[in-house]
Amino acid sequence: PLRRRLIERLPKAELHLHLEGSVEPELALALARKHGKRLPGDEAGVEGLRRNYVFKDFGDFLRMYLAISACLTDEDDFAAIVVDLARKLAADNVRYAEVTFTPMTHVNRGVAGDTLLAGLAEGRARARAEHGVELAWVFDIVRHRFAEGEPTLALALEGREVGVIGLGFAGPESPQWPTAPYAPLFARARAEGLRSLPHAGEMDGPSSVWSALRELGAERIGHGVQCLADPALVEHLREHRVPLEVCPTSNVGIGLYPALAGHPLPQLLAAGLQVSLASDDPPMFATSLGEEYRRCTAAFGWDAPQIAALARNSVEHSFMPAEAKARLL
Ligand code: ADE
Ligand code: ZN
Repeated sequence: PLRRRLIERLPKAELHLHLEGSVEPELALALARKHGKRLPGDEAGVEGLRRNYVFKDFGDFLRMYLAISACLTDEDDFAAIVVDLARKLAADNVRYAEVTFTPMTHVNRGVAGDTLLAGLAEGRARARAEHGVELAWVFDIVRHRFAEGEPTLALALEGREVGVIGLGFAGPESPQWPTAPYAPLFARARAEGLRSLPHAGEMDGPSSVWSALRELGAERIGHGVQCLADPALVEHLREHRVPLEVCPTSNVGIGLYPALAGHPLPQLLAAGLQVSLASDDPPMFATSLGEEYRRCTAAFGWDAPQIAALARNSVEHSFMPAEAKARLL
């Protein structure tokens, strides 16, 4: 109970969270009905939809993720999912979040870039005013859709004035979709001041993390849990203090590990790596950042200093402005 209160009380930052993966079944259903769309299981209402928020692998997860994305159409929809996310973050005392968003998923369906940016801007202002939560955006490229890289970067650069701070890289991680072709794009993004924040070492091994570091100039690694298979990589990450955004429940949810008890998080910490706990797609994996802290505390027997260190890491490894960071540390 003491550790529970500590988890609630500590100011936290969330560094790995997808906006389209953060829509609660209630809101998803309301948006689907508003636009005359169907979602898997929705014939049985919210409970039916919630029962379908359970996945056996990444492909299965992606189908639901894209079905929800297809219900987002106008400026109000994007603002609404942002404000609802901020409400949940505030409930966990998450004061700042870097939220990944995939603009081209929506542009491909005919939504204008300006609509996206306006919706995010409105949602972000309301998140601050109504919930005291500060948000920043990471616009991500889906790695098997090379042609979308260029327009994603263009929108990210345009979006800097509404809080875009980085370029992300997600989707199916496999040698089938190599990193190298994206190197020039990420170099330009970094030259323009955007952070390089790729997923790597989630569904593929150490070579994928090396590519993210060498070819994309990764400043943090989304997931990175598979780095442990390569001691030289672990040493590199440790020495250069490259933070890993570790999302334990998500990893179990897509079938990487059978249960939290078998998750490598304790080994990552024991190796001296910089870890920040994160939730990835919270309602879709039936979690939240607070839940990640509570579940890991129970599974790994963390004490109060360990919990506090992780909360502190999350703030330290964020890209929030220095003054704001100092206030939370
Ligand atoms: N998009 C949303 N969640 C993701 C994940 N865990 N890995 C890759 N792409 C994603
Ligand atoms: Zn992710």
